[in-house]
Amino acid sequence: MAEPMNAGPLSTDDTVAALPTWLDDAGLSARWMTLDGSDMATLGISLPPVLGRAVAKRQGEYRAGRTCARYAIRQLRPTPPVFDSSTVDWPLLGPDRAPIWPSGVIGSLTHNSGFVICVVGASQQFSGLGIDVEAPVAPDDSLGLGPRIVHPDELALLVNTPWSEAGFTLLFSAKEALFKAVYPTVRRFVDFHEARLTALTDDILHFELMPDLASQLGHQRTLYVRAAWWRGQVLTFCARSAQIVPNDFRPR
Ligand SMILES: CC(C)(COP(=O)(O)OP(=O)(O)OC[C@H]1O[C@@H](n2cnc3c(N)ncnc32)[C@H](O)[C@@H]1OP(=O)(O)O)[C@@H](O)C(=O)NCCC(=O)NCCS
Repeated sequence: MAEPMNAGPLSTDDTVAALPTWLDDAGLSARWMTLDGSDMATLGISLPPVLGRAVAKRQGEYRAGRTCARYAIRQLRPTPPVFDSSTVDWPLLGPDRAPIWPSGVIGSLTHNSGFVICVVGASQQFSGLGIDVEAPVAPDDSLGLGPRIVHPDELALLVNTPWSEAGFTLLFSAKEALFKAVYPTVRRFVDFHEARLTALTDDILHFELMPDLASQLGHQRTLYVRAAWWRGQVLTFCARSAQIVPNDFRPR
């Protein structure tokens, strides 16, 4: 498989600011890359037909995300997967926009206007991963959206914690990360009220899953989402173990 034509920015970005260590631990591997608004064609990632006429920025975030995925996949330990020359070593774009990962790999992507992050793991170990970044939402802006996304009891749990001012952003991001992690199994839209925050300990959010969702996930009742501030944004991450257990994988 050919090397990306421009591998430089990855190592540069990782030197400038490392991702939280828990994204690169316990069978996970993650990379990030700066977006510059261009189409990033020099990265050597072919576009799916549906993005052929997309704006340059969208083409760039697609290519940068796939480039991060390639690097993250190669760094998987203990054994990075080996692909034959007929297989691309990055996730394709699915018809529902969910990424289609190369065999043996599961992962997740997120981007904003400035950067893209990809995290991957082995599909033997994980059945779903979800990562999300969100810029802090101003309190006034969250008023309209609020009831669709969060229940007042969830926000109440964040009062008197370091997250109280960014409570809405945290919950919004965490639920999107959770959605990405469960989607490969449930393959449907998941309403924001199908997961309810029940506790926050050491920047780990505990979510109780509502009965329909829990049942679709093999009677899994709890999922954990890890949170951190990163480059001025709220970064959240959720992982589901390949083994079905009532209370799932908890990032270290
Ligand atoms: C799909 C969704 C999660 C994307 O989140 P976003 O903040 O808009 O965008 P991000 O930059 O963080 O993520 C985009 C990436 O998510 C991934 N993605 C898109 N749809 C996905 C899905 N159904 N499952 C998993 N990953 C998905 C893609 O890799 C995409 O990047 P790409 O198009 O370059 O490949 C969001 O738009 C959405 O539809 N949410 C509604 C459902 C939900 O979150 N419910 C909460 C349940 S508790």
